[in-house]
Amino acid sequence: MGRQYKRKDHFYEKAKDSGYRSRASYKLIELNKQSKLLKPGARVLDLGCFPGGWLQVALDKVGPKGLVVGVDLKPVDALERNGAAAKIFQGDIMSPEVQNILRAESPEGYDAVISDLSPKLSGIAFRDAAQSAELVQMGLHIAREFLVEGGDFVAKIFPGQECEELIPQIRSSFRKCSRKNLDSTRKSSKELYILAQGFKGA
Ligand SMILES: C[S@@+](CC[C@H](N)C(=O)[O-])C[C@H]1O[C@@H](n2cnc3c(N)ncnc32)[C@H](O)[C@@H]1O
Repeated sequence: MGRQYKRKDHFYEKAKDSGYRSRASYKLIELNKQSKLLKPGARVLDLGCFPGGWLQVALDKVGPKGLVVGVDLKPVDALERNGAAAKIFQGDIMSPEVQNILRAESPEGYDAVISDLSPKLSGIAFRDAAQSAELVQMGLHIAREFLVEGGDFVAKIFPGQECEELIPQIRSSFRKCSRKNLDSTRKSSKELYILAQGFKGA
């Protein structure tokens, strides 16, 4: 029998108690503990940022001298922490207009592109994996376009043939690349994260 989905799990309760907008905050905290992705003063681009759990963590870590820009298909409530506000845009990351806006927000580029993009999951593994791979591909395209040399890229993936085919493409653009299974991922989920560090440049 498969593992049961329990919406209000330990991380859900912890997020609620800490004022995080989503339990996903703990995934970025865990990734950041392992890799020091979010340095003070860094410019961070958050792809698929609704409802804003990663935005909160990113703002806390980069501090008032940093820049946090987020985009999602859904509207996201304005967010300010310790005097710094996230710049949030509603739209599809696939759209050239949205990409122009993201570029204009930091014309010198971003130090980290973090993608928690997720399709509307159908529960049909091969379909979810294929749609997720399309979003990873777009995330990688944006990372290659917008990252400064030495910058970092994180992407959520759902294992499947398409994502496996993308990993060598990611690896070729970065000095280090690894897969991360996180403790804060729901036990019922197959998701994992690709952490690619040290962008080699366009
Ligand atoms: C798992 S949620 C992100 C949670 C977020 N990291 C947080 O901490 O609150 C994934 C998001 O990806 C967004 N998304 C999926 N496809 C997108 C696209 N093409 N453009 C922009 N956002 C997209 C969805 O709307 C959804 O809100």
